[in-house]
This record gives sequence, structure tokens and C-alpha cells, in this order.
Amino acid sequence: MKVKIVDHPLIQHKLSLIRDIKTGPKEFRELLEEIAMLLAYEITRDLPLEEMEIQTPVAPCRCKVLSGKKLGVVPILRAGLGMVSGVLKLIPAAKVGHVGVYRDPDTLKPVEYYCKFPTDVADRDFIVIDPMLATGGSSAASIDMLKRQGAANIKLMCLVAAPEGVKYVNEQHPDVEIYTAAVDDHLNDHGYIVPGLGDAGDRIFGTK
Ligand code: PRP
Ligand code: URA
Repeated sequence: MKVKIVDHPLIQHKLSLIRDIKTGPKEFRELLEEIAMLLAYEITRDLPLEEMEIQTPVAPCRCKVLSGKKLGVVPILRAGLGMVSGVLKLIPAAKVGHVGVYRDPDTLKPVEYYCKFPTDVADRDFIVIDPMLATGGSSAASIDMLKRQGAANIKLMCLVAAPEGVKYVNEQHPDVEIYTAAVDDHLNDHGYIVPGLGDAGDRIFGTK
């Protein structure tokens, strides 16, 4: 199982709060935004740098600035929307694409219903974001959609993953690194992550 678990104490503390059934939509959204920002810090750790010369008020200075391809962020609707603002706080120049995929409740297979990417997909590196990686079907399908448009370098950011979903994405997309705050125990018979946090979309938007 190839996955990077981001075990920063702030993330782990906020994740415990977000899992709690007593946490309502307002606090859930705030926590998800904060965790997404912290995960974005980790997922961008290996961005390439180049040196440039600037002038401080005191002296000339050789400084490091980001180089390499520009970034794109792709939330998977709906729940991925809850992480966009946190990620954009750290990488405000990123372009944002959207993928609409929902999980058929009976088959648990992903159903694609929307796709809108920036026009320059092939010129960008991408972070696909979704709080939940359960069977992995939605994430793998979203990554497929991006690759079909020419994206070559993609990372997946989630909040809670199941071992089944990590394994599936590893198999379907061995080139895609997965970053998550936790890998939980298992999926239940309805495809929910155990212990997980319930239905992320419903908890963000208060629809249940
Ligand atoms: C949830 C979640 C993921 C997907 C994960 O979305 O946000 O996209 O399930 O499950 P998987 O790994 O088994 O595919 P859902 O289908 O509930 O749609 P929603 O975000 O519109 O509520
Ligand atoms: N989607 C969710 O929102 N939660 C799960 O546990 C599994 C899929």
C-alpha cells in the first residue's frame, strides 16, 4: 500500500474533531478548510525551486522562487469543494477544474456527470482533492478524466482513506501519490469508511 499519511499533530487533532458526530456543518466546514491548508503544505513540499537575484533594502540577495509547471486543483463534487479554499490559501495562483462524480448507492461504482478543466491541462501539475477515499472508484475515475485531457503529473489529497481505496488507486494509477490524514480500518457493507466520519458531502452541506 503506497500512501503518505500526514501525521502532523494539528491535523490529527482537527481530524478527531471533524469525525465527531456532534460536530455540525459550520464547524465541519471550518475544520475541513484548515486541514486542507495543512495538507496542501505537505503535498507541495517537493515543488521545484530556482534561484533569482533580488535587491533587499540592505543588499543584493540570491533567493529561491518556485519554478516548474504551474498547478491545477481539481475538487471532486460535491465534498471536494470543502477543501478548495484551504488549498487556494497556500497556492492562490492555481487554476481550478471540477469533476462531478457520484457513487451509485447500489453498485458503489462511480457515475460521471460533470467535467470542466482549465484549457492548459497538459501544461500543469494537478492535485485532485476529495475528503473521502472509500472504494477508490470516484478518485480513480477523476484521475482518468484528467489523464485523458493530457495531465501527466497528478497527486491525490484526501482526508480519510480506506485500505481498499488506497489499494485500488495504487493499482489503477501507480504514478499517483496519495496524501491523507488517516487510513482507517475497513469499508462496511454500504461502502462507508469505518470508523470514518460519515457522509462527507452531507456533513459539509447539511443535507442529512
Ligand atoms: C463521496 C466522497 C467521494 C466518494 C468516495 O461522494 O466525497 O467522492 O463518495 O467513495 P468511493 O471512493 O467509493 O468512490 P458521494 O458519491 O457521496 O457524492 P457527493 O460528494 O455528491 O455526496
Ligand atoms: N463517501 C463518504 O462521504 N463517506 C464514506 O465513508 C464513504 C464514501
